[in-house]
Amino acid sequence: MPKFTKDLGKPDALNDQSVAAAMRLFEDGRLFRYGEVGKGVAEAGLFEEEFAAITGRSFALGVNSGGCAMFLAMKAAGVEPGEKVLVNGFTLAPVPGAIEHAGAEAVLVEINDELTIDCDDLDTKATVTGAKFLLLSYMRGHIADMDKVIAVVRKHDLVLIEDCAHATKAFWGDQMIGTFGAVGCFSMQTFKHLNSGEGGVLVFDDENIAAKAILMSGTYMLYEQHTARPSMEVFERHKYDMPNCSMRMSNLVAAILRPQLPELEARIGHWDKVYDWIGEGISNTQHLRLPKRLDKAKPTPTSIQFVVEDLSYDQIESFLALCASQGLHIKWFGAAEPVGFTSRPSHWHYVDGGQEMQKTDAILRRVCDIRTPLSLQHEDCQLIGEILQEAMATTVSTS
Ligand SMILES: Cc1ncc(COP(=O)(O)O)c(C=O)c1O
Repeated sequence: MPKFTKDLGKPDALNDQSVAAAMRLFEDGRLFRYGEVGKGVAEAGLFEEEFAAITGRSFALGVNSGGCAMFLAMKAAGVEPGEKVLVNGFTLAPVPGAIEHAGAEAVLVEINDELTIDCDDLDTKATVTGAKFLLLSYMRGHIADMDKVIAVVRKHDLVLIEDCAHATKAFWGDQMIGTFGAVGCFSMQTFKHLNSGEGGVLVFDDENIAAKAILMSGTYMLYEQHTARPSMEVFERHKYDMPNCSMRMSNLVAAILRPQLPELEARIGHWDKVYDWIGEGISNTQHLRLPKRLDKAKPTPTSIQFVVEDLSYDQIESFLALCASQGLHIKWFGAAEPVGFTSRPSHWHYVDGGQEMQKTDAILRRVCDIRTPLSLQHEDCQLIGEILQEAMATTVSTS
């Protein structure tokens, strides 16, 4: 069988318009988003207008990372030092990191076999801890039963903040992910739907939360230059109370993001195909299972996960080593040590309370992860499937 030779860790190139927009800015020097108003709305402001329009929310704020977006969302929504924030246990380290950054305490919630939040555990933990905030992470694009999540949110009167880093333009039924809670937070770190290396954006409808977040992002009192913002009088209410946290989006980041927006639909279409092509190979491999999608969920994954069933951890390791020997490098959330984006709750020692996450830990020990760059074509995905099947057959027959 031929070896797999594509590098799954290689980012997708930026389009020509992004390159040209960056060059124009380099010549202009206007990299900072605030400045001479005579020059018109800055790139960062235009990006915010366009992103707010995509999500259909009233206001948007560009910042320097997804982690900062979540931090600002929590602070603006009223998270106080020591506040308890519920968060699903399958997520990436920047999510509990943002909770720590906000001075709050993460209350980890178990996940289910489909890698989404366990709503019964959410209900229990909300009751037991009295937490008033939920940071819901659509990790790897997996969408929970939002009808159940919202029922628990309403029952406990929780403030919901959504981590949509892996869920741009995803839907639950007719409603876009990122519009269920008080704030939707997105990341534009290189391996996301939009790539500016670093970057984040918040979307909201509540004028007070939006104004507070904008002020905290670091406006030097130049917030009037924002265009996807609440009216000026809302800022009057808060301008002396909000610290400047300097988490601004630069015009350079916005300039390279804006030309990517019109391509988003086509990119998501290709990612969907890649998911189905590789998914077929996974489903045809014994002991491998794709997490089920609920009927109302329309995720937009940029990677694919599978669960390895009925094999020992040693066998999983041998299987992954065989795949790697064929050039197919697969990440494993079950590895003893986190290796590049694969941490799980037992690795987050800064999360207080020695919280037992037995169910989540047991599930994640069996979860593997393949990044799906847009460069993947049908034949690449078929080869991935063949490698998986052959490596599994060898693993099973030799152990
Ligand atoms: C699930 C998830 N949430 C949030 C983030 C935070 O994004 P950033 O790296 O932009 O801080 C990431 C980053 O990869 C992520 O994977």
